[in-house]
Amino acid sequence: DKGGHRHFMLKEIMDQPQAMTAALKDRADFANGRPADVMQLERVVLIGCGTSLHAAQVGRHYIERLAGIPAEAESASEFRYRDPIIGPRTLVVSIGQSGETADTVAAMHLAREKGATLITICNAEESQAARVADGALYMHAGLEVGVASTKTFVASLTILQLLSVYLGQLRGKLDAETTRRLVDQMARGPGLIGEVLAEANLYSSLARRIGHYDNFLFLGRGANAAIASEGALKLKEISYIHAEGYPAGEMKHGPIALIDPEMCTVALAPRDDLRDKTLSNIKEVKARGGLVVAVLTKGDDEAASEVDFPLFIPQAPDLLMPLVTTVPLQLLSYYIALLRGCDVDQPRNLAKSVTVE
Ligand code: F6R
Repeated sequence: DKGGHRHFMLKEIMDQPQAMTAALKDRADFANGRPADVMQLERVVLIGCGTSLHAAQVGRHYIERLAGIPAEAESASEFRYRDPIIGPRTLVVSIGQSGETADTVAAMHLAREKGATLITICNAEESQAARVADGALYMHAGLEVGVASTKTFVASLTILQLLSVYLGQLRGKLDAETTRRLVDQMARGPGLIGEVLAEANLYSSLARRIGHYDNFLFLGRGANAAIASEGALKLKEISYIHAEGYPAGEMKHGPIALIDPEMCTVALAPRDDLRDKTLSNIKEVKARGGLVVAVLTKGDDEAASEVDFPLFIPQAPDLLMPLVTTVPLQLLSYYIALLRGCDVDQPRNLAKSVTVE
């Protein structure tokens, strides 16, 4: 049931506030609690593929910041063919909508052999990932039909944030009051996402202005670097447009050579600690004749005056920012793909669940 929408993908984008609420619900006891082990952890390794890899990359920021544990994110397809140095003091967190991705499951088996503690964040219950892991944190996002992951990405980020707060609390990095404040803050997420969704029409008209570009560069910093990669992935998957996602700080090391009037840059520059840095990248793109679409915080007229198409999102706490900035990029991809007559829900060459390498 597409809930009155033309495609499952749009329905699933629109369902994201509920997906976030569902992921937040009933988590008080997700602690199949082994506090002693948690104190021993030296490192967290987050693995996944595609969109789930991007969730892992955001999760890395959450773990470091909230739990104070060194963390890294890696593609499961790379991890499984290395000889990663992990052991009982490593927590491996696998992320996957399906829980059936061949590379992710193989990477989990490797982690298990090496004696790591293994958790999976997945949507599909009774999946292989859930069977291999010591514990599963389910997204409860409901069935995702569109091949392009949307609501399960938001659900993954929500659970990663909860997991990070949980670890931070157990390890004494977060006191009770901070924990409460963070949980209250997360509860604001669905409303913030809803505010972006309420303006979905804007993205449809923007798509008509920029949908003919054949090259897109997505830029962001911090957790938004992962969202830039996710924005590029969404666009290439469903509209077949060449798109790259880059940490904005990497611009000068190569991608800037691509900038000309034929290149559309989508920059994520909401008001946060890194906004000024990204704004200077935006100016560099403009100085070279590139077109700039930018996701900005409402009221940031200074930044808006520097770009061709500002896309405003509500002011959000830093930790919720990636959940909010991802929504405009999903909507933009959707409407561009629609305009180009692509099969949004079943893009060519792709499968919902990649069970072979
Ligand atoms: C992106 C997409 C794919 C999946 C990837 C991993 O929209 O759908 O990149 O994210 O194949 O799938 P899961 O999350 O099921 O492991």
